[in-house]
Amino acid sequence: MSVNWRIETYETLESTQDTLREGLKQNPEEGFVIQAIQQTRGRGRQGRLWFSPPGNLYLSTLLKPEGDLSLVGQLSLVSCLSVCKALEEIYGLDRNFILKWPNDILLHGKKCSGILLQTETGRNGEVEAVILGIGINILSAPVEVGIALEDATGISVPLASIRDAVLQSLAQNYSVWRQEGFAPFRGQWLEKTVPAQTAMSVGHGKSLKSGMFQDIDPKGGLVLKTTDGKNLTVTSGEVLFM
Ligand code: BTN
Repeated sequence: MSVNWRIETYETLESTQDTLREGLKQNPEEGFVIQAIQQTRGRGRQGRLWFSPPGNLYLSTLLKPEGDLSLVGQLSLVSCLSVCKALEEIYGLDRNFILKWPNDILLHGKKCSGILLQTETGRNGEVEAVILGIGINILSAPVEVGIALEDATGISVPLASIRDAVLQSLAQNYSVWRQEGFAPFRGQWLEKTVPAQTAMSVGHGKSLKSGMFQDIDPKGGLVLKTTDGKNLTVTSGEVLFM
């Protein structure tokens, strides 16, 4: 069954994540979407701020997958692939977008899109709701680390068309994931991420693990070969290329 999107668009919000979370009190159905033209306190992963002036895409969607928390990591990878597929449709397949585990999209080594998942769980740890936030740098991006798609490609597309392409791609993949799990996406992910043996570190809190990229495991974990030759599977954290 495909998710039906119901979109509310606002001129200015602090963060679409927070507005959607607040809206959970009304028990909205799966498919509720909050979009903002600009955010004054856009939130990124690891407590960072997300650069959010007008001209870029900022939205949060409500999903209600059935299962436990371990599924959310997979959903994060599936969402990233969905956004990437939409960007390839719009800007061209030959652009060489790269997926950076777990859910960043890079172009020319810089970030053009980031995804933030927040999960609401019930008493027994079951997932009640996932608030999936998507930010795409279209007209502008933070200097050094970010890249704006319009600058990089010279292609100008209305924001609403990009939003609709992203939501359509997400709905399609979400439906496949609910029926078939992560298996259909693993190969696609490996095709779009960095090559095996790429040197990287994964930071999580105070821990930093370094090694060579090996694989994405069947559950969506990142497999690294560490300096002692052992394979280590990481299920959360921030990748840094070395
Ligand atoms: C990241 O750090 O890569 C995740 C960035 C997620 C940004 C989006 S923009 C829409 C939604 N609202 C927020 O406050 N954050 C997410």
